[in-house]
Amino acid sequence: MEICPVSGRFPAIPFRFSQSLTDFSTQSRRMSPFCLKVPSNIFRSDADSGQLESRMFILGMGFVGQFFAKELQRQRWVVSGTCTSIGKKKKLEEMGFDVYVFNANEPDPEVLNILNYHTHVLVSIPPVVGIGDLMLRHEELLKNILTGGNLQWLCYLSSTSVYGDRGGEWVDEDYPITPASELAKARLVAEEGWLNLGCDLRLSTQIFRLGGIYGPGRSAIDTIIKQEPSSEVQKMRSSKRYTSRVHVADISQALNAAVHKPSLGKIYNIVDDDPSPRTEVFMFARNLIEKKWPGQIKQARSLDRVESLMPKGSSRDGKRVSNARMKRELEVRLLHPDYRSGLQSIVEHIDDSFLYNPPS
Ligand SMILES: NC(=O)c1ccc[n+]([C@@H]2O[C@H](COP(=O)([O-])OP(=O)(O)OC[C@H]3O[C@@H](n4cnc5c(N)ncnc54)[C@H](OP(=O)(O)O)[C@@H]3O)[C@@H](O)[C@H]2O)c1
Repeated sequence: MEICPVSGRFPAIPFRFSQSLTDFSTQSRRMSPFCLKVPSNIFRSDADSGQLESRMFILGMGFVGQFFAKELQRQRWVVSGTCTSIGKKKKLEEMGFDVYVFNANEPDPEVLNILNYHTHVLVSIPPVVGIGDLMLRHEELLKNILTGGNLQWLCYLSSTSVYGDRGGEWVDEDYPITPASELAKARLVAEEGWLNLGCDLRLSTQIFRLGGIYGPGRSAIDTIIKQEPSSEVQKMRSSKRYTSRVHVADISQALNAAVHKPSLGKIYNIVDDDPSPRTEVFMFARNLIEKKWPGQIKQARSLDRVESLMPKGSSRDGKRVSNARMKRELEVRLLHPDYRSGLQSIVEHIDDSFLYNPPS
């Protein structure tokens, strides 16, 4: 599945990503129907080209959103986004981002209108079981506000869970989709919804199906040091022979590549090369910690024991998700092709104070 799911939906008229941005500021100001709190740096221009800079709006500045935002900031993008609390907004503003408190259940039209002052949007807010994608419930509002705006590019962060459990088979983006859980079903509906909205708005629209995300501050290393109990989802993953994962730095570089390679409704699996069992990952993490801080960590709850309690059989084999398209088309060279490389780099950057006083 590569192209917009509703056939004939891509119109003959040009897509927005080919349009010039030079008249951006006057255009946006003219069309804005709302009273805006638009940040002053939004109209910063590139001194060399005379063109306005690229501007990313991140709906949901969570783990991936923040990592990518920092990367774009290094590249001198203007980055804005949303979170759900004042406390987090303050923290993100201190990092140099324009941030809006936003509830996707009741999207504030003023915040949505600010999207029109951006060229790119990343959607990172997850769907909710029994409700679906919170934003897409307000699709008409989104369409009304964003039609004729300046957005050119949209990427929706989805999950490899849409493939369901495939008895350990390799799956690529063309593999028949049979999501098993209610959340995975909601993901699939959300993918289709964002693809359709992108088509209607004539944006470059891409779907990223992410494997289990890990990185600094969120990894097996952190779980062991903090002695965190496993969540239900993690316990389920413990029983699987294959679980796909990806380091947040590699998601960030894939997003960066996708920004420079706009496409119409392309779907990409974003995973590393080595789908492995969670128990193996935790054993490796424990050994790394033991090597760096011998005898300092209490033996964490045995994941091997958890695994032994889980039912065995092909339905617990998971799937091996192929990243061939990501490598071929986005030309991503993984920084962390497997969990060993990713965890090694995480442990190298953790200092002793984290071990004795881990953040909650
Ligand atoms: N974790 C994984 O292993 C994994 C695997 C595959 C796919 N994914 C999906 O990939 C995306 C990025 O992952 P992530 O780990 O970066 O997620 P994350 O850290 O949980 O970030 C999710 C963002 O969505 C915001 N959000 C949640 N509910 C909201 C609501 N009702 N209204 C407005 N905003 C809301 C959160 O706001 P706050 O910042 O205020 O909390 C946060 O900024 C998510 O959709 C995630 O579900 C995750």
